[in-house]
This record gives sequence, structure tokens and C-alpha cells, in this order.
Amino acid sequence: MGEGTSDYTKNMVDLRRHMWMAGVEVELRRLIWQIATVGKYISAKIHESNRKLAGFQNVYGEEQLDLDRISDEILKSQLQFSGFVREYASEELEDIVKIGSGKEKYIVTADPLDGSSLVDTNLAIGTIIGIHKESVLDTGRNTMVAALYITYGPLITMVYSAGNGAHEFVLNREGEYLLSQEKIKLKEKGSIFSPGGLRRDWTPAHLKFVEQLEKDGYKLRYSGGFVPDINQVLIKGGGLFTYPALRKSPQGKLRLLFELQPMAFIMEQAGGRATNGKEDILALKVESVNQRSPVYIGSTKEVRMAAQFLSQ
Ligand code: AHG
Ligand code: MN
Ligand code: MN
Repeated sequence: MGEGTSDYTKNMVDLRRHMWMAGVEVELRRLIWQIATVGKYISAKIHESNRKLAGFQNVYGEEQLDLDRISDEILKSQLQFSGFVREYASEELEDIVKIGSGKEKYIVTADPLDGSSLVDTNLAIGTIIGIHKESVLDTGRNTMVAALYITYGPLITMVYSAGNGAHEFVLNREGEYLLSQEKIKLKEKGSIFSPGGLRRDWTPAHLKFVEQLEKDGYKLRYSGGFVPDINQVLIKGGGLFTYPALRKSPQGKLRLLFELQPMAFIMEQAGGRATNGKEDILALKVESVNQRSPVYIGSTKEVRMAAQFLSQ
């Protein structure tokens, strides 16, 4: 712990101090801090939201809630003046947009508000962020240097990794993100699973895999929000989230760039794995911002088991 740490603050490691102690480079520290701060603004909007549909459609033809658009606007404008971001790609925008001079170090991908269709039910929703150094498309190799997600639930929590493990922070009443769990590790085998998509739309191989999990006594945990569902696997220390290839949509539902890559980055840092059933999510070539992919993400045993069933 740094010099001059008083008793009172000895255990209060806030986000900035944690990143400094973990050796995260200064511009990345400031960027992660600014994004975590946006979480407070988005949370304020959720609280004051009228939760009505915005009457707009995003590129996927999905109704956009006011909140989706507002969250995207807040995030984009914060990043625009951060001094660290040259391009921004968001689930709510048609394409990657230049937001800096072109000399800034990072590109940020965002699902500004994930699970927004749940906001009227008061279930937890979230924000998913990927931070890249080089281009996010066609590089053939993953250039993510950090990822984070914020969960808006009974507490506001934030999990980040800058390649130094996965760590959870809780936003306190004073608006500080305080460290709650450091270097989170997944067990090789968990006991919960989140099966996305409709059973009748699953492929026979995926159905057999899920039936095996049920036979093995895995408990079903599915809220319909990717962020809280994934967060449950991480914080419970194991298990599997899957949104598989479906008969009518072989690429599944979740977006590779905005949702799967950041979560795969974090899960791998926690000793887990993330694949499309065969290849690692972080090894997949991103050809377009709208690209979707099937996903099996969580403890290594379950991810490996899925691959065995899918290869039969
Ligand atoms: P978003 O609100 O950003 O569009 O994401 C919704 C996603 C994800 O949160 C969740 O895992 C999935 O939709 C749930 O899909 P189903 O409703 O088909 O289960
Ligand atoms: Mn989403
Ligand atoms: Mn979204």
C-alpha cells in the first residue's frame, strides 16, 4: 500500500489507486476512470427515465429506448473530450465514428445500455466497454488492451481488466468506486448455467449439451440481461453463459464487438474461456461492427464440454 495510507483509508482502495498500483499506464487509467464516471451519469438517467420507447430503430431493427440513445450520447460526448479516444463504435450507431483528432491512443467499443428492454421490470442492466489500441476490424488478431462492464442493480458495480486480472468495485454513496474483489478467479467447473434462445430453436447438438448440464445438476440462471447473467458466473466463481447458434440464426444473437469480446477479455483474465463453440471469441476476425456470434463463456470445463458436444 502507498506511503501515508491512514488506517481509515488503508482498506479503501478506490479505482484510481488500484489501477496505479496495478501498473496500468496513465492514459489508460484516466480513460477507464472517465468511463466508470459515465456509469454514474447513466445510472442517474435510469433513475429519472420515463422508460418509454424512443420510437427509433437501431441498425438491428430493434426498438431503441430513450435510455439506449441517451446512454450512447452521454458516453460518446464524454469520450469525445477525453483526449484519449480517436474512434468510437457503439451498438447504437451504424458505423465506427471518428471523435478525436486521429492522434489519440485508443478506440472504444460500447454497448451503452445492455438489457434495456428489462428496465421497466427493474431487473439489473449494464454497460459493456472494450478498449482497443489499433483498429477493431479486420486486424485478424485482437488488439484489446482493457475491458470493463458496469452493472446497474441493487448496487452499482464495475468490473475491469487491463490485462492485470479481473477486479470488482462497488460505487459507494460518496460516488467512489471501492475495490470489493481483486484478481477474481473462476473455478474450473461451476454449478450454474444461462441458456439463451428458445429450446425449440436450438440445434440438436446444443440441445444434447444443455440436457447433459441439466442431468449433471446445473442450476438454470437466466435474467435476459447479458451483463447481470455473465456477472453472476464471474462473481459466483464459475458456470456457463451461452447464447448459441439457432436454427434460423446460425450466428446467434449477441454482438461480437460490443458484447462478446469485452466479456471474453474479462473472463479469460479470470481464468475462464469464451468460444463460439469451436474457436476462441478473441481469435475471431471482426469483419463488421454488426457481426454476431454464438457464445459459450465461463468455466473452462463447461466451455470444453460444449465444444465436445458440438463436434459430434
Ligand atoms: P441489448 O439490450 O443491448 O440489445 O442486449 C440484449 C441481449 C442481452 O442482454 C441478452 O443476453 C439477450 O439480449 C437476451 O436475449 P433473449 O431476450 O432472446 O433471451
Ligand atoms: Mn447488448
Ligand atoms: Mn444495448
